[in-house]
Amino acid sequence: MQKHIIGFRLATAAVLSAAVMTNVARAQNQPSSQAKQQTSGEFFKNVTTSALKDLTPSDFLGAMGVMTAAVGYDCSNCHPGAGTDQMDWVSDKIPEKRTARKMVDMVATINKENFGGAQMVTCWTCHHGLDQPTTSIALDKLYGAPNDEKLDIVTPDKSEPPATQILDEYIQAVGGAQKLAGLKSFIATGKSIGFSGLGGTAAFQIFAQAPDRRGVWIHFPEHPDRGISAWTYDGGKGWISAPRGFLGEYELTGNDLAGARLDAIVSFPGGIKNAFPNWRVGAEDVLGDREVYVVQGSDRTGLLGTFYFDKQTHLLLRYVRRTPSPVGRITIQQDFDDYRDVDGIKFPFKYSFLWLDGRFTADINDVKINVPVELAKISKP
Ligand code: HEC
Ligand code: HEC
Repeated sequence: MQKHIIGFRLATAAVLSAAVMTNVARAQNQPSSQAKQQTSGEFFKNVTTSALKDLTPSDFLGAMGVMTAAVGYDCSNCHPGAGTDQMDWVSDKIPEKRTARKMVDMVATINKENFGGAQMVTCWTCHHGLDQPTTSIALDKLYGAPNDEKLDIVTPDKSEPPATQILDEYIQAVGGAQKLAGLKSFIATGKSIGFSGLGGTAAFQIFAQAPDRRGVWIHFPEHPDRGISAWTYDGGKGWISAPRGFLGEYELTGNDLAGARLDAIVSFPGGIKNAFPNWRVGAEDVLGDREVYVVQGSDRTGLLGTFYFDKQTHLLLRYVRRTPSPVGRITIQQDFDDYRDVDGIKFPFKYSFLWLDGRFTADINDVKINVPVELAKISKP
């Protein structure tokens, strides 16, 4: 019985992923405004794998994040001097980098020859955060807590309410469709605490303008030398500015850009239904001590948004977005808590952001709605 269920879920995921893959291929062949954009093979000096060389540079860096996390490394395990001024991204001196290149090819071949090109095997499938994958069952795990890892693509559960109903209940809980239609902008201000090496408390602000513009800004008032981090999307283009990051500031391209657009859209609950053409509802789940509905949207490019709504309050507790990459999907998670009423609309006053490269939590102390948002806060930092 158990086997049967797993088999079915795998098959469903395979079909969905296969469709997603074809659509990505189709999208890439379509002439678009980005057609003349440089590929990673052109942009970087020493990018040669057929799986990675056609990615946009920003999607390539996302793939680096996936590889790094999958094997439990940081960039310097493959790139000499990464994280210092002496970094050398081009060099093939470190054997692990050369191994990783072979692994990228291997993963592409496994998927092509065994799964019709659908991305069923990724770096994570084998590595699970270890550079040397384990090969045997650990008996304490076998008799310990059951493995609760989840498939990326939720299996539709017909016994759950339809997606439209759950999304409507959310809209109602936040303030109702009419009230939300009048929400044109907001500015949320607070403090954030990072978990990366430096830590310290930072000033945190979200600027959002309906329907799809958004900027998140973080800086350290007491340590200006730490620079300003910003993630912005102006309704067409997006940027990341990370003072300690690899490229400093760069324009988002490819799937990365689609992800930033999605984040901007879903920051306005009234527009959430427009975020995806397709929705499905998976089996109910539990987040901490809350029972949740799991609602997932997807589109033809392979973008996935998974939303966890509190069964009791109907509020959004978690939003996970996944964008495709040849080595495994790139995941960003946002958690929301401490919803408070602001002029009849409920806003989360606690945010957590988790991505492959770090995480932080933010405590909001002020939300202003329908105030003018400076263009500079939602465009190129
Ligand atoms: C497990 C090894 C591994 C880790 C960890 C890793 N990389 Fe890479 N990196 C590679 C490989 C392999 C290539 C070449 C890919 C190819 O040829 O298609 C590469 C290429 C690059 C390049 C292109 C350099 C050039 O001009 O040719 C950049 C930039 C880069 N990586 C950045 C990063 C960053 C940033 C991180 C940390 C987030 C990182 N890498 C972590 C293996 C790794
Ligand atoms: C089918 C399983 C499998 C997949 C998928 C896989 N690997 Fe591996 N990988 C291995 C095994 C097994 C080893 C150990 C080989 C050895 O020790 O000789 C290894 C070794 C490595 C090493 C060298 C570790 C060391 O200590 O020298 C790196 C780096 C690595 N893999 C990166 C990757 C990356 C990046 C991906 C995804 C693009 C990936 N692997 C996908 C099975 C896999």
